[in-house]
Amino acid sequence: MTSTLITGIAELVTNDPAAPDLLGAVEHAALVVEGTTVAWVGRAADAPAADAAVDVGGRAVLPGWVDSHSHLVFAGDRAAEFEARMTGTPYAAGGIRTTVAATRAATDEQLTAHVGRLVAEMRRQGTTTVEIKSGYGLSVHDEARSLAVARQFTDETTFLGAHVVPADADPDAYVDLVTGPMLAAAAPHARWIDVFCERGAFDADQARAVLAAGAAAGLRGRLHANQLTQGPGVRLACELGLAAVDHCTYLADADVAALADSGTVATLLPGVEFSTKQPYPDARRLLDAGVHVALASDCNPGSCFTSSLPFCIALAVREMGMTPAEAVHAATAGGARALDRDDVGHLTPGARADLLVLDAPSHRHLAYRPGVPLVTSTWLGGRPLW
Ligand code: NIG
Ligand code: FE
Repeated sequence: MTSTLITGIAELVTNDPAAPDLLGAVEHAALVVEGTTVAWVGRAADAPAADAAVDVGGRAVLPGWVDSHSHLVFAGDRAAEFEARMTGTPYAAGGIRTTVAATRAATDEQLTAHVGRLVAEMRRQGTTTVEIKSGYGLSVHDEARSLAVARQFTDETTFLGAHVVPADADPDAYVDLVTGPMLAAAAPHARWIDVFCERGAFDADQARAVLAAGAAAGLRGRLHANQLTQGPGVRLACELGLAAVDHCTYLADADVAALADSGTVATLLPGVEFSTKQPYPDARRLLDAGVHVALASDCNPGSCFTSSLPFCIALAVREMGMTPAEAVHAATAGGARALDRDDVGHLTPGARADLLVLDAPSHRHLAYRPGVPLVTSTWLGGRPLW
């Protein structure tokens, strides 16, 4: 197996849980990749010999971003909706139906090409693991094909037939469809099942029914919850021991306590608050309570059309009370925990060699230099993509 020594690393973020600092940062570091995995990390002066060497020239090396929440399978454009929000029109769940009509009208080839472009955009910004949801098909055929398209790009696929009730459907009949024929068609292409538990979408009983049916079909659960209101979703996710509950914008004290007790990850999606003009979630409150926090993009055409984890990190630091180290940890190790993955989100021996190189000496520059394309190289499974 070929080994490669990466040298010239001004700061290496390992996320080693045994390290005294959150990021397990090593200065003047080196890293050895063997095949697709990390074989060695440490100070450059102690590095072992390898078959080949790459000098990154005094830059920072971090684990690749683990984006645990995205909706990339869609067609159409809702820029006008965004523009209206910037002058005061509130965000509402119903806008999803606009994208459903456009997605149903698109061919498989068009959807695949579109997801491919967005995944490439993510890779250029350092994302190495991405979760992709369905949820803009909302028919048996369109949900199954959305997931089949997503599966071409990632194993982390999520069935979100319960995104919103389609325009012409009866809510109870639609939940029966989602938990019956739609789930049967979707399950072979999905690892996860998700529900938008929110005013204007699905209530707690409906969410519970969908998650139970998914579990019976072998799909693990996650939830969209507390995005627009202090609803019941966060507590439901904690009660069911779900891997993650996403948005967490409006939280009661009991929600924070439930998150801390359950170990369910709170995934924060600050691009949504940027793009909907809602208040940002209070990450400091969650971290101080001992909650596991992840940061993800929620890339979708309605509430947040960014694919950029660096942008989300900058927002989290500027607006949500996170330190740069906490934000980087949440976008790497936090995302991995939200997807129940122990092979990504860190750079310690045995991890997948998924990493990014920053054109900067430390992770702090991600928030210090917002909007600047600092990622100069993304490595996937031990190989640079460019
Ligand atoms: O995560 N909240 C539900 N789903 C997406 C938004 C979808 C849309 O508006 O098209 C979200 O924000
Ligand atoms: Fe979402």
